[in-house]
Amino acid sequence: MSQQAAAAKSAPRTAPGFDAARLRAEFPILSRHINGKPLVYLDSAASSQQPLAVLRAVEHYQTALHANVHRGVHSLSQWATDAYEHARETVRRFLNARSTREIVFVRGTTEAINLVANSWGRSRLGAGDEILSTHLEHHANIVPWQMICAATGARLRAAAVKPNGELDLEAFRALLSARTRLVAVAHVSNALGTILPVQEIVRLAHARGVPVLLDGAQAVAHETVDVQALDCDFYAFSGHKIYAPTGIGVLYARESLLEAMPPWQGGGDMILSVGIERSTYNELPWKFEAGTPNISGAVGLGAALEYLETLGRSAVGDYEHRLLEVATSRLAALPWLRLIGTAPSKAAVISFTIDGVHPHDIGTILDSEGIAIRTGHHCAMPIMEFYGLAATARASFACYNSLDDIDRLLEGLRKVRELFA
Ligand SMILES: Cc1ncc(COP(=O)(O)O)c(C=O)c1O
Repeated sequence: MSQQAAAAKSAPRTAPGFDAARLRAEFPILSRHINGKPLVYLDSAASSQQPLAVLRAVEHYQTALHANVHRGVHSLSQWATDAYEHARETVRRFLNARSTREIVFVRGTTEAINLVANSWGRSRLGAGDEILSTHLEHHANIVPWQMICAATGARLRAAAVKPNGELDLEAFRALLSARTRLVAVAHVSNALGTILPVQEIVRLAHARGVPVLLDGAQAVAHETVDVQALDCDFYAFSGHKIYAPTGIGVLYARESLLEAMPPWQGGGDMILSVGIERSTYNELPWKFEAGTPNISGAVGLGAALEYLETLGRSAVGDYEHRLLEVATSRLAALPWLRLIGTAPSKAAVISFTIDGVHPHDIGTILDSEGIAIRTGHHCAMPIMEFYGLAATARASFACYNSLDDIDRLLEGLRKVRELFA
């Protein structure tokens, strides 16, 4: 056993004040057996699991409160509206936004970015303008900009990353110019786990009067996000990566920007009055929420954020960081395994390849051992191309993972190696 592995083995099984075993029991799905083995869930970067607190909040909403929101005088409709708007206030508190007028419910990060591209982008961009991004973005922070560039004549630029997966800040600085109209970057890379220097990015962009959109899909569950401290202009995230159901997410946007932006979808709820010739639009944030929203999803998201607040966001972050350190040092000690993305500042994601084994085979063999990881391009093809890879295997951690899960991952990987040696 290497020195690193020995150190990891002798590390305490939980962090002080953090009882991962108790916590695991709060996530019913984690007690399942998969292919006859106890489940080890290491795919939270794709979708995290939901605790009882969330499942029960959704059940209570569906069984006791459900009706359509905003339009009813009857009790159920008012209770549903209260539950929905309470969730918005919880999101506001969680992000430390100034007002609930800055919190728009959407389907997820993808829809949040499409909203900004179609509303802000379409109304502000023209030929010669540039949007500045990076090479490690998720497709959700690339394709909407490409589409809006095609419609407006603007151009998408991407700052390079260094071989270790860190953003090349000099390259970013060099691309930030008088032509840049918006900076749109990930807070945390889903493919590599790199935490981007977002504070510095915002400072550089604002020095030129350029607003900044942060794709927080991989950050909110792992980092404490304070939009006022970050001073970002847009912040997008998805509920299903932060212990909430799928189909719900959030766009935070500075109120002055949202006020000036046109709605991007029309329909019920986003209007004050409608005539055949023209309509007037609702106040913020409802101007951007056309149609019946995902009410139970919002309730589940509110419950998930409250759950995370109860655990303590920095305690969760510290605990996951320890898991990351242990897992990284143990994987790095395997001579036949290559870590992809070794930036000094990382969140709870580890991408890797194994010599001579296709990542899909790694995923399939681990699945037969009850271990769920993700394999593929992780919707981040430009960064895969940078590394000359079609795919990687990716293990990602959440508050319910433990050092035992890392042991099981290592055992599984040794099996993979034996089968292909
Ligand atoms: C960094 C990042 N951005 C955006 C997305 C898209 O999120 P969603 O599919 O929930 O809209 C993901 C999903 O994996 C992601 O990791």
